[in-house]
This record gives sequence, structure tokens and C-alpha cells, in this order.
Amino acid sequence: MIHPKQLFPGQTLRGILIAAVASLVLAPSLSKAEPKVEVLHWWTSGGESKAVKALMDEFSSNGGTWTDMPVAGGGGDAAMTALKARVLSGNPPTAVQLKGPSIQEWAEEGALGDLDDVGKAENWDALLPPQIANHMKLKGRYVAAPVNVHRVDWIWANPEVLARAGVSMPATWDEFNAAADKIKAMGITPLAHGGQSWQDATVFETVVLGIGGNDFYKRALIDLDMSALDSPTMVKVFDQMRRMRGYVDDNFSGRDWNLATAMVMNGEAAFQIMGDWAKGEFLAAGKKPGTDFLCSPTPGKGYLYNVDSFAMFDVKGDDNVAGQKLLAKLIVGENFQKVFNLYKGSIPARLGVDMSEFEYCAHRSAYDMEVTAKIGGLLPSYAHGMALRGAQAGAITDVVTKHFNSNMSSADAAKALAKAVKQSL
Ligand code: GAL
Repeated sequence: MIHPKQLFPGQTLRGILIAAVASLVLAPSLSKAEPKVEVLHWWTSGGESKAVKALMDEFSSNGGTWTDMPVAGGGGDAAMTALKARVLSGNPPTAVQLKGPSIQEWAEEGALGDLDDVGKAENWDALLPPQIANHMKLKGRYVAAPVNVHRVDWIWANPEVLARAGVSMPATWDEFNAAADKIKAMGITPLAHGGQSWQDATVFETVVLGIGGNDFYKRALIDLDMSALDSPTMVKVFDQMRRMRGYVDDNFSGRDWNLATAMVMNGEAAFQIMGDWAKGEFLAAGKKPGTDFLCSPTPGKGYLYNVDSFAMFDVKGDDNVAGQKLLAKLIVGENFQKVFNLYKGSIPARLGVDMSEFEYCAHRSAYDMEVTAKIGGLLPSYAHGMALRGAQAGAITDVVTKHFNSNMSSADAAKALAKAVKQSL
């Protein structure tokens, strides 16, 4: 109890009490961290920007301050180079778009913050399919949070061009070739493609899946089985890639993926083989699925998944840590998973999200994900960093791109593939 004699001159007991109460009320808010994040991502196209804005808005309306660090370049190669530079200079961004085994690679380096408390508090183990949750963990602890599931093995098409050529969406690679030959004869580019190595890899993995089948894909691009990498089946895969090379226009080199999507939109090209972020582009341009553009899985019986996620780099400061935890929590939130994915072209990573506002390609994706999982066909995309560590994925992509841009024979390419992988191990 305070004795009046202990009071400072001019202070009354009442005044002190008011000040004490006020400090009790104010103390928590004064010491409360103000959540902030600096977010490194590569979402710069029309559809991608809309999707990332949904994340920014969600973060801001929950009291966070967002500093944007977009690094343009589909597939994220440039973003990953920028990340390495920031980490080397001792100043990593707080939140980074990271995927697949690179999450574990960075976590093993001790570079990532732990998100297990958020995961536990938010019940992620019950809300996420185990296969997706496992990609987010190191040694059983969450170190990343998933935003979506993209499907990679899609064909996008312009229905008007198909109608003029008298062809429908191909269900086999032979049908694809026959349709492409007809379209080419009409003077229209059959396949909109951008000659960037990750785009070559994207097409390649869908061909591996379709021509080789689910088990072959797994042996070749996940298990790195030499007898699959250099095999007659792989020779057939490269034969199909050579054929595809003949279906792209002369100006394909270096073209961004979204510009290839625009070629399909405006009827300059018939097809594009690309993950469903391409659908985000069609939708952002006001195009209607089923009328203005068509989607169907590339020929095959599997599903190549690509889960976008964010990892939080180990940084100091209460505001930063509070921002990381808030962002991680919001990312797996039900509302965010719906809104973000409606723009992004993907489907929610979280189970039980209301899909009634999604269109038919998204429903097809969700349905096929379930069905293919039952037959061992739910497979991680190598081209989008879900299946392999960087060195092995890079070794494969180098050969794929080299073959696509030269006269290398299919047999030589299959041999080179096995050799490059062996050297990378
Ligand atoms: C993928 C990424 C997608 C999409 C695409 C094109 O690797 O997972 O979200 O943005 O690249 O940039």
C-alpha cells in the first residue's frame, strides 16, 4: 500500500492510481508487436498479381504491414537467385515462396523459423491432406504453410480454333499430334510455348507421365532409376518432344508463359501445355471456361501436383516474428484458401473448403486428385520443384532443354539424361 508520504511532490494517490491503471491497460498494447512481413514471391502476371493481392489484403486487414518483394520470372528461378543473394548478405526476407524439397534443404541449413506452434494451434494436421502436410515439415515439425494445389498436366485450348480445324480436345498423344498437324496446315501455331527451360521441363514431365505411365514417371523422375532414365520408353518420350518442337512458332525462344497463354486467348495458337496458373490468366482477362477456353488433362492417368507454400526465414525482432506467425495462420485459413485460389487457378490445399464458386476445371482437378491418389497416380511435379532436390532437377532440365533446342537424337538424349543425373548425385 502506498503511504501519502511516499508520493512525489504534486502527485496525489488518485493520480498515481489512475496512472497505474492506465499503464496496466496500455502496457500490453504498447509492448505488443506490430506484425510485419517482407514477402519474396514470383507472382507478377495478371492472374498471379490478383491472387497475391488477396493475400496482402488478408494480411493488412488483420493488422499486418506487408512489404512486397516480387521477382518476375515464371517458375521462380530468378526469385530463388534473389533469395540466395539476400541470405548471403545476411538479410533474408521474412517470408519466402518456397516449394517441395527446397523447403527441407533450407530448413536443414538452419535458415528457417519453426511454425510448429502455429500448425498445432490451428490444427493443420487435421486440415491438410497428409501428403501435402509432409511437404511442409522437417522431422515432423512444420516449417512452411501451403496456399494451394496446382495441377501441372493440363492442356488449355482455344475452342474456336479447334472447331475451325474440326478437332476436339485430344485424349491421347496420337490424337494430339493429329490435331496439331491439322492446325499447323491451317497456318495456326498448334502449341503456344515459351522457350525457357522450366517451360520445356513442364511439357516434358507431362509427356513422361502420358507416354510412360504413373509407375514410369515415378521410377524416372522421383526415384531416378537409371533403367528408366535411359530406356526405350524414354526414347519415345523424347520422340514426342521432338514432335512438339515442330508445333511451336519460330519466335518461341525466351517467351514468358503468360504471353504464350495470350496466344491461345487471341486465337494465334490452339493449345498450351501449362499448369493451371494459366487458368488464372484466362480468368483475369475475363475469359469464360468452356466458352472462351477449354481445359483438359494431358493424356495419361496421373496427376502432377505443385503446391505453393511459404516458409519463414529465421529473423530477429518481435514484429517480424509476429508477422510470420500471422501470415502462416492466415494462409491456411478457410476464407483465404477460397479467395486466393479462385484467382490463382489452383484449388485449396486445405480440406473442406466450399468449392461452389469454382468453375469446372477446378472441380475436375479436385476430383482427379482424389481418384488418382487411389491408383498411385498423385505425383509430385519435378519441373516445379516438388519431386527432387535442386541439383538433380537441374541436371534433368538441362538435358531436356538441350534436346529441345538442338538436333540431338532421342536415344542420345535418354543416355545424356541418365549420365547427367548420375553425375548430380
Ligand atoms: C510455378 C508456381 C505457380 C506459378 C508458376 C508460374 O512454379 O508454382 O504458382 O506462379 O510457377 O510462375
